[in-house]
Amino acid sequence: MKNLDVIIIGGGAAGLMCAIEAGKRGRSVMVIDHASKPAEKIRISGGGRCNFTNLHARPENYISQNKRFCVSALKRYTQHDFIALVDRHNIGWHEKTLGQLFCDESSFQIIDMLLDECDDAGVEIRLGTSIRTIEAAQRGGYVVTLQNGSNWHCQSLVVACGGLSIPKIGATGFGYQIARQFGLEIVPTRAALVPLTFDPDTRADLGQLAGISVDAVVSHQKTRFREGLLFTHRGLSGPSILQISSYWREAETISVNLNPEQDAFTLLKTAKDESPKQAVHTVLSRMLPNRLAQYITTRHGLDRPIGETGDKALRKLAGDVNQWQIAPQGSEGYRTAEVTLGGVDTRELSSQTMESKKAPGLYFIGEVVDVTGHLGGFNFQWAWSSGWCAGQVV
Ligand code: FDA
Repeated sequence: MKNLDVIIIGGGAAGLMCAIEAGKRGRSVMVIDHASKPAEKIRISGGGRCNFTNLHARPENYISQNKRFCVSALKRYTQHDFIALVDRHNIGWHEKTLGQLFCDESSFQIIDMLLDECDDAGVEIRLGTSIRTIEAAQRGGYVVTLQNGSNWHCQSLVVACGGLSIPKIGATGFGYQIARQFGLEIVPTRAALVPLTFDPDTRADLGQLAGISVDAVVSHQKTRFREGLLFTHRGLSGPSILQISSYWREAETISVNLNPEQDAFTLLKTAKDESPKQAVHTVLSRMLPNRLAQYITTRHGLDRPIGETGDKALRKLAGDVNQWQIAPQGSEGYRTAEVTLGGVDTRELSSQTMESKKAPGLYFIGEVVDVTGHLGGFNFQWAWSSGWCAGQVV
């Protein structure tokens, strides 16, 4: 049996941050990851440029059964702390939109930064390594048995194996399995920040709009996001749809304003009064991409001059522009989801340290916990903040 202070399962964003902090405190730390490369999600994030944090990160940007749980960690290790780390490594970055910070060059810069910091802190990283069993040790701490049969004792065991999204690059439900083994409750999980899909009939009809994108406000009950929306062959995507997917549930409707800047009825009515010979489609195409304007006009049976169109019909048409109601059938699921909603119930954990209340010495950080950020760098910030907090005490 070999001994270590800390074993961290998962060499992603949260696990590496925790490892750096614990290593800097002089703890002996081993990170175990079954993937052959560390931090694969950082690599593919932000279109290869990693949206590593958000200038405006605050608790309101997170979804959890306990909305207050993330407050402490986000306060103790802020976006500005992470930006300072990035700056120390001379990594160029820029704000794209809405406070979202991206690397100027490549997400590999963030991975290299974390690995360099791990190296400096004396952290050992074991890749391509699977775990066979985990047991609580009689003398306290945990015994981790690897697939090769070797046994490791650690005082602190940190579970940082993320959520279920993108199984192709190594996501598993192992973190939830460990939580259940030690009697911790799990908030049911579902794919989030994910494109929504239509039923086959709607798909056949709206599929012709694939490739069209608009600036939209997408609402679900009281939650609304104004960002891009993209029609796809299977349904809807784009940032506004990914955001609302974290709130939408099966059989529910979302409302889409396809032109938030303009009141469509007012514009249609004015056009009707001023130049009645114009085609309805021509007027609508001043508010929407041409193909979308043509589709909506035809669907309403209004392929005619606007002067020959009653106000009631124009009002209905305008409704589909400013308040289009659509009920998606489902989502693309974990195959393409950016995150997993739900996870280890925060009531089971200390918000200061991320330690389990039931199983001393067992910690959960990052996406495996029931804290899910909006799109825009918030999920990485949660990984950094929760990993940092655990790293101060493990
Ligand atoms: P993460 O998933 O990063 O790491 C978990 C690690 O555990 C992995 O290395 C995995 O191999 C390992 N593991 C899993 N099961 C294991 C097992 N059984 N044994 C051993 N190891 C195991 N967020 C953001 O803020 N900005 C962005 O730009 C993006 N972009 C983005 C794009 C795409 C395509 C996706 C899928 C996701 C994003 N995200 C994002 C979300 C972000 O990537 C995510 O929230 C964090 O990576 C979560 O960090 P964790 O360290 O918790 O898990």
